[in-house]
Amino acid sequence: MSAPLRLGIAGLGTVGIGVVKIIQNHAELLSARSGRPVQITAICARDRQKNRDADLSDYAWEDCARDLARRDDVDVFVELIGGDEGIAREAIEIALDSGKDVVTANKALLAIHGQALAERAERQGRSLRFEAAVAGGIPVIKTLTESLAGNRISRVMGVMNGTCNYILTRMQSAGLPYEAVFEEARQLGYLEADPTLDVGGIDASHKLAILSAIAFGTQPAFDAVEIEGIERVSIDDINRAADMGYRIKLLGVAQMTARGLEQRMSPCLVPADSPLGQLEGGTNMVVIEGDSVGQIVLRGAGAGEGPTASAVMSDVIEIARGVRLPVFGQPAETLSKAHPARTAVPAAYYMRLTLADKPGALAKIASVLGDAGISIDRMRQYGHAEDTAPVLIVTHKTTPDAIDHAIEALPRTGVITGEPVELRIEEV
Ligand code: HSE
Repeated sequence: MSAPLRLGIAGLGTVGIGVVKIIQNHAELLSARSGRPVQITAICARDRQKNRDADLSDYAWEDCARDLARRDDVDVFVELIGGDEGIAREAIEIALDSGKDVVTANKALLAIHGQALAERAERQGRSLRFEAAVAGGIPVIKTLTESLAGNRISRVMGVMNGTCNYILTRMQSAGLPYEAVFEEARQLGYLEADPTLDVGGIDASHKLAILSAIAFGTQPAFDAVEIEGIERVSIDDINRAADMGYRIKLLGVAQMTARGLEQRMSPCLVPADSPLGQLEGGTNMVVIEGDSVGQIVLRGAGAGEGPTASAVMSDVIEIARGVRLPVFGQPAETLSKAHPARTAVPAAYYMRLTLADKPGALAKIASVLGDAGISIDRMRQYGHAEDTAPVLIVTHKTTPDAIDHAIEALPRTGVITGEPVELRIEEV
């Protein structure tokens, strides 16, 4: 049996402790599968005194992740601190420069600085692996990088923030408004310390940018993702969309088009009976379409101790086995600079308008849509007591530009009250 693979773990939160437990509980299994024992030599976290649900007494303690990254008795630096700047980034750079392989769950860091880190790792001949950074326990990085390496990928999409999916499905099942369910999610501890990362779509966009890079051979381009969070999704829209056979999901979609790379994260309607439509609670789903494989759907826990630690360990085992791959599936120097394109792929749209209930109001709306080149597929007016009428429209396929044009023109009809709502209906 070869020499043990020695880990230094920086960050002992939920995921870090999950990794410690797997290593302690599955020593034989890990050793058999890796061809060598997998051991922890040193650990580091902010607070040494904190009561943790694991026996850490056998491991050397470091107060600073940078010192952990420099240790001679560490082969693999496991970064579970988080954050796109500061200590996590510095410690990873030190680890790579001192000849260590790195495993991280840090999606923000990879989405923003992935190219520089990949170049650094490959220059040093080291591995930088990050299965846990996208969709928790779902093996999506490995699937894209290895299992689907023979495909030209046409589209990657998914629900990759469990907190948002929890909020949206709970709003529907309990009939509660966004604010009430947001508060529930906070009390249940589902929200990130900065909740905007979740509900603002940022966390999910970090993940989408990473998947795009692997799928399309481009440098990660988080700042080119068109992002809209779930804050403006109302219980009204969730209910109306359900009436029309749809669910609302915070959906990330990346596709390479003739105009460039489209990456968008936004609340979208998907058919209620599709796999994405049926995704409940905090679960994640990633859908990948390749020219040979067709469509594949991956579903599983996107967060939590066990699932995320499972993903970290898959990277550790690959390193122990001696598997060394380019960080984003092809050498970093061959990744092209992404040419971002604003979404132009046509789609059907859902529109909710509140109309003055008076003669000719509907005709004025229809005329604005017609002038924008938008054709109506279905329309429904709901019962109402006041002098305004809620109207729902599902359009035939049209372009985002045409929808923007119509949304701008609608208030000028003088028959609309409130803001018109429009949501894309994604073909899945
Ligand atoms: N906050 C994320 C989620 C988990 O709710 O899915 C970590 O990425």
